[in-house]
Amino acid sequence: MCGIVGFIGQEQAAPILLDGLARLEYRGYDSAGVAVVSPRHEIQVKKSKGRLQVLSDMIHGGADVEGCIGIGHTRWATHGAPSDLNSHPHMSEGGKFAVIHNGIIENYVEIKEFLIGQGVTFRSETDTEVVAQLLEFYYNECHDFFESVGRVLRRIEGAYALGILCADCPDRIIAARKDAPLLLGYGEGCSFLASDVTAIIRHTRSVAYMEDGEVAVLTTAGIQVYNALGDPIEKERHHIDWEVSAAEKGGYPHFMLKEIFEQPQALRRAIMPRLRADRVYLEDMKLTAEKIRSFTRIFIVACGSSYHVGVIGKYNLEHLTRRSVEVVLASEFRYADPIVDENSLVIVISQSGETLDTMAALREAKKCGAYILSIVNVVGSSIARESDDVLYTWAGPEIAVATTKAYSTQLAVLDMVGLAFGEVLGTVSEDEYAEVVRELRALPEKMETVLKSCEDIQKYAAQYFNHNSVFFIGRNLDYALGLEGSLKLKEISYIHSEAYASGELKHGTISLIENGTLVIALGTYGALFDKAMSNVVEVKARGAEVLALTTESHRAEMEKTVASVLSVPDTARMLQPSLGVVPLQLFAYYVALQRGCDIDKPRNLAKSVTVE
Ligand code: M6R
Repeated sequence: MCGIVGFIGQEQAAPILLDGLARLEYRGYDSAGVAVVSPRHEIQVKKSKGRLQVLSDMIHGGADVEGCIGIGHTRWATHGAPSDLNSHPHMSEGGKFAVIHNGIIENYVEIKEFLIGQGVTFRSETDTEVVAQLLEFYYNECHDFFESVGRVLRRIEGAYALGILCADCPDRIIAARKDAPLLLGYGEGCSFLASDVTAIIRHTRSVAYMEDGEVAVLTTAGIQVYNALGDPIEKERHHIDWEVSAAEKGGYPHFMLKEIFEQPQALRRAIMPRLRADRVYLEDMKLTAEKIRSFTRIFIVACGSSYHVGVIGKYNLEHLTRRSVEVVLASEFRYADPIVDENSLVIVISQSGETLDTMAALREAKKCGAYILSIVNVVGSSIARESDDVLYTWAGPEIAVATTKAYSTQLAVLDMVGLAFGEVLGTVSEDEYAEVVRELRALPEKMETVLKSCEDIQKYAAQYFNHNSVFFIGRNLDYALGLEGSLKLKEISYIHSEAYASGELKHGTISLIENGTLVIALGTYGALFDKAMSNVVEVKARGAEVLALTTESHRAEMEKTVASVLSVPDTARMLQPSLGVVPLQLFAYYVALQRGCDIDKPRNLAKSVTVE
């Protein structure tokens, strides 16, 4: 996720901005930049692709850039590959405005077309540049910085944390926020702006958190905040007493926990720009309706958790498209002599976009003439570059080795692919389509509810952390969910754990169930709830200790048989695993915590597996 910092005071701004950006490096980024207003009232922009050190060397640690007011940014690419031109800050054509932004401007295409029609020339591929250009467009009409910002905010849709400089107003920075983090820092004769307190904690511990719709004007004399109606308001100030190192994880003890809690926000970024009214629009996908209709075979190819997303995808895509979908492990696909041709679609899923096995499978499929649609988190990664089409998940950087928010966003994007294909093929009913879209919109909020039940999960983790062997059982989507729950648990807690389709138990595995064996029974798939219950009874009869996960509507029924029950809100059938996975991630996390494991960097594992 992009990092933002801003400063206005009596000292040279650039070194302070560089220092702030360095504190935000942990968030992950692909380019960095600063903009500073010079004493001659000109905005100087210095930016470059790559590490912050490249930028710092370019401007000699900031010494080269004169001026005491500026903004800085580390970019995590969403729209447009990492490049010098796409880096922030973005300037308006006439040089009056510089803008840094975290978030996504959903209607940037329409605004860009409007501005191009007015004769404006764009330099980058980003959504952010429209903000800079639109500011100058309005400023040329009203000649008022604050008013221009207001007009822009009324015109743009989406999520944003913005820091804005205007060459004609060298005594202020304007900041605005909607659905992206932004905070203000109060200093002696100086003011700060940051996406994260880490960036400014060395200069001030007095901060205020901006709310959606608020606009702030930062000067050397202080900060004035305005609410969404434009009325001046007093902000409550908070004193930060965190250690700097803790703040780098946003106050969370581990990146994994932070990323679990970031999932609702990540889902908003992945889903909302792709929904309008009650329809899914995959405008970032090039596939035409005609091409979609031409596919005779659909494959999903991936590794690890991305493969587990594919297993859920198989159920959902087959249901929505009435086409057969094969989900294959990338490491198997490449050597399996797969039956792939020009009429095949291969959906490749990868968080990093660099997994070697997945990359090799992609190349194999491409050689056979298949069309490659990838679902990737890291913009400009190898898999993204070599695919015919890419849908980005926009989850932001994921640092913990165990994936959480990337998994959730991959799943949401794949579900939207299913809906879009189903609509083109005429295989999804209007009612189901409408229900799933409605529930996709509600998903982030429902996930927030699940995250609030964290204490219950902690309690069960404390009860069960000593087990040495765990079985996850479930049917259909619950089986697919179990695969991920089991992988999460084993990779970070080192407990032996397996996932089985419940119906398979009696074909062998049930012989392993004895007194005290822990079975995590998944019963969130409503249509097969009764069958799930039968399997619970079977394992209990053989002495298993059962922890069950079900939906709120089935909780009471489950509690008649099982004492330890977790539940998640009900949602559309095909989206149920998107909620179910959260308690399983948290369970794995708290079990690993109890066992004293190195959660963010489990033994023998790497975040990106670039070897075979
Ligand atoms: O970057 P990718 O999605 O291609 O990575 C695939 C797997 O290596 C990855 O999902 C791995 O299984 C995770 N550590 C699971 O948490």
